[in-house]
Amino acid sequence: MSTSSNPLRDAQDRRLPRIAGPSGLVIFGVTGDLSRKKLMPAVYDLANRGLLPPGFSLIGFARRDWENEDFAQIVHDAVKEHARTPFREEVWQQLVQGCRFVQGDFDDDVAFETLKSTIHELDAAQGTGGNFAFYLSVPPKFFPKVVQQLKKHGLAEQKKGGSWRRAVIEKPFGHDLASAQELNRIVHEVFPPEEVFRIDHYLGKETVQNILALRFANTLFEPIWNRSYVDHVQITMAEDIGIGGRAGYYDGIGAARDVIQNHLLQLLALTAMEEPASFEADALVAEKTKVLGAVRLPKDLGKETVRGQYAHGWQGGEEVVGYLEEDGIDPASKTDTYAAIKLEIDNRRWAGVPFYLRTGKRLGRRVTEIAVVFQRAPHSPFDHTATEELGQNALVIRVQPDEGVTMRFGSKVPGTSMEVRDVSMDFAYGESFTESSPEAYERLILDVLLGDANLFPRLREVELSWQILDPIEQYWESNGKPASYPAGTWGPIEADEMLARDGRSWRRP
Ligand code: BG6
Repeated sequence: MSTSSNPLRDAQDRRLPRIAGPSGLVIFGVTGDLSRKKLMPAVYDLANRGLLPPGFSLIGFARRDWENEDFAQIVHDAVKEHARTPFREEVWQQLVQGCRFVQGDFDDDVAFETLKSTIHELDAAQGTGGNFAFYLSVPPKFFPKVVQQLKKHGLAEQKKGGSWRRAVIEKPFGHDLASAQELNRIVHEVFPPEEVFRIDHYLGKETVQNILALRFANTLFEPIWNRSYVDHVQITMAEDIGIGGRAGYYDGIGAARDVIQNHLLQLLALTAMEEPASFEADALVAEKTKVLGAVRLPKDLGKETVRGQYAHGWQGGEEVVGYLEEDGIDPASKTDTYAAIKLEIDNRRWAGVPFYLRTGKRLGRRVTEIAVVFQRAPHSPFDHTATEELGQNALVIRVQPDEGVTMRFGSKVPGTSMEVRDVSMDFAYGESFTESSPEAYERLILDVLLGDANLFPRLREVELSWQILDPIEQYWESNGKPASYPAGTWGPIEADEMLARDGRSWRRP
């Protein structure tokens, strides 16, 4: 925790926001997309909400030949374009006081010495107290080099009872189980486990944290949250965008490694886990690892998994190229831009209930949701024609956009005859709350500065997730190639057939 805790603040008092103590953030890969679109704006939004200390400092580290002023201009433009909260000159003026740029390569010892002296300078000028988090927003192949350089130059040293140094590591954490373990070994040689924060930005989303509130703060849902009532669960993360300028990262990685290994399996864990003893990081991770450890892969990976690749098509009225025609993509690439898999969970609560996970680029629209689909009533006193239009009851957690929860059930159509049709009951964040939700990265950066690890996956979760995905990736590697689907549609027909074999169909979100 921060060195300066105020004895007059009661941590239980909700009127007092959680404010970071004296600290700073160093971003490696500061010229990248993530930094411009998410990290720098999130830092500003935190400052604007008064959640950063007055002397908060931001150091950018990159190869570009920039002066501090050039960097400040880049941060300024990124904030103006992408911040969630309104731009206020006085907030900006305060923030810019602590902005510094360090130019160099990751091999460059001189640059790391400059980084060190910049940190000392900021400690003196801004009162950052030696507390710095190092955010590795760089391609994974550079992770080892950067952490080793931090060690070599004495930048990762924790001072007993004094200042802290933390590492924040962007996904993907490895590309399979073995590489994740190796990466972890390297990082832990430099930073102690409690100072390593692995980012899965889905956990920073309000709607994802709300899964815990929905399930464990209410009595309504938990009694039916099991195999006696639930028919199956569908977890969808659909995007309308293609790969944009990310060919270098995406090709060879694919949809399953990019988002199923992390975001979707985390959603599955939160949906399926047992109630934790508390909301402390250890208690949460214990339940998440238990349920991830109980995940069972289908026997026939050829039938119960589907991968796809988008072809040329129309997206929102615009003609778009196929994946193989995108800039920087090998025209023979077998990388998946769509993946659907069926998983089961071997425990008393979920035995026999399939969890279908799907994700894709260039799908019909951008939507992430978890749909818990219930069984049909065991007996219907209505005649068949009365319930012809009745579907299965469902509870849908709308992660984004239109954040909220929908319950779908049957209701009598007003009139003289008995006819039951699906209706829905809706909770929308926009209608129930006046404040808009913070961006995931605001929450996560603040938590890093506070040393709060609840919303960060632990190594064991990452390992278990790779253990689930590795056999699927290996199967795909040696069997066939992705099925093609036109951009702007809902994926390959093979994915519809996969569910049809189980007598089910994908929801059209
Ligand atoms: C990232 C993936 O983790 O999540 C991207 O690497 C994806 O491919 C992004 O586009 C989507 O995030 P969000 O918050 O818009 O759902």
